[in-house]
Amino acid sequence: MNFNFSERMQSIRASEIRELLKLTEKPDIISFAGGLPAPELFPLKEIEEIASKVIIKQGQGALQYSTTEGYNLLRQIICEQRIKPGATKPTPDNILITSGSQQALDFTGKLFINKGDVIICESPSYLGAINAFKAYEPTFIEVPMDEDGIIIEKLEEILEKYPKAKFIYTIPDYQNPSGITLAVERRKKLVSLAEKYHIPIIEDSPYSELALEGEVYPSIKSFDKNGYVIQLGTFSKTFCPGFRIGWIYAEEEVLQKYILIKQGADLQCSTLDQRIVAHYMEKYCLDTHINKIIEVYKKRRNIMIDSMIKFFPKDIKFTHSKGGLFTWVELKEHMNSAELLKEALEVNVAFVPGASFFPNGGKHNYFRLNYSNMSEDKIAEGIERLGNLLKKYY
Ligand SMILES: Cc1ncc(COP(=O)(O)O)c(C=O)c1O
Repeated sequence: MNFNFSERMQSIRASEIRELLKLTEKPDIISFAGGLPAPELFPLKEIEEIASKVIIKQGQGALQYSTTEGYNLLRQIICEQRIKPGATKPTPDNILITSGSQQALDFTGKLFINKGDVIICESPSYLGAINAFKAYEPTFIEVPMDEDGIIIEKLEEILEKYPKAKFIYTIPDYQNPSGITLAVERRKKLVSLAEKYHIPIIEDSPYSELALEGEVYPSIKSFDKNGYVIQLGTFSKTFCPGFRIGWIYAEEEVLQKYILIKQGADLQCSTLDQRIVAHYMEKYCLDTHINKIIEVYKKRRNIMIDSMIKFFPKDIKFTHSKGGLFTWVELKEHMNSAELLKEALEVNVAFVPGASFFPNGGKHNYFRLNYSNMSEDKIAEGIERLGNLLKKYY
């Protein structure tokens, strides 16, 4: 079609990988590709009970338009149950309900980025954020990470060079894709750098409550006394992604701008869905549900890591994530994980090649494995098949 599309669409292209990953929908595939929660853990009975109560008792209100900020009870529950108090304590006025945190990422791009502006992110970073930001045509500057997350000295060098960068985007807990967690001291340092350079931090936290082992670190936001951190949360990984309910936690002044953007985008999130989620959380304990999720994911993560140790060539490096949904694999430098994916699909195994997690491209020798969505025996089987493929190259 010969329409005169906007220039920004040139940076948003369907990737070859996306086409390949469509094959993961085949029924016999063992897919480590998506970031999908285990659907068998969705609390169907309880949701059925709550949904029918909401319709019976509040039907007209629940099916009507409602405020852009979101259902007040839900915002209150988020403040009381999901956000641990830190330097400041949120009130519902600090919370905007969004259509998953993906929408919050898009809004962040809209709020901050003019064409060509510098934004700073981890290397690698979340593919969905990279794509959301790309629509606003920024220049991405990637900060290298080690096993404790973003390397602060490198970040400081970048900030010296680009003091007008628009924001620092980070996924500090069990990062997607690497599974890496940012050390506590670095979290504090990040806040002081944000203050020094007057640059906001976008703290994307979908996995912070999915600690499979070890200490749970305080959020970056919890160290933020002066409103430099905009925190994104979601119920996608701790409840059900299908509701598409996430939130932005920010100072009121900043939140007001996000609210204006939300008005222009879709007016509000579904009134019905917000009420179902809120009344579920009012009656049932989400922490108890999260503990069930953790129990299952921990077993799956252990099977995956143990199988990798058993079946992968010894020279292959991978992260032993302490939470979240992913492990990240590094191959020999000259290897291309997209080529490996083609071979893997022939033996009915899928993963996501790593190149798309680097906004400036160039790194082809990584891939991401998800362990939340497949049963334990499929995980063991899939990793053995992958290991057999990899042995040819080592
Ligand atoms: C780091 C990160 N941010 C945001 C999202 C989007 O989540 P949501 O379902 O809340 O839109 C994901 C989903 O996988 C993610 O991994």
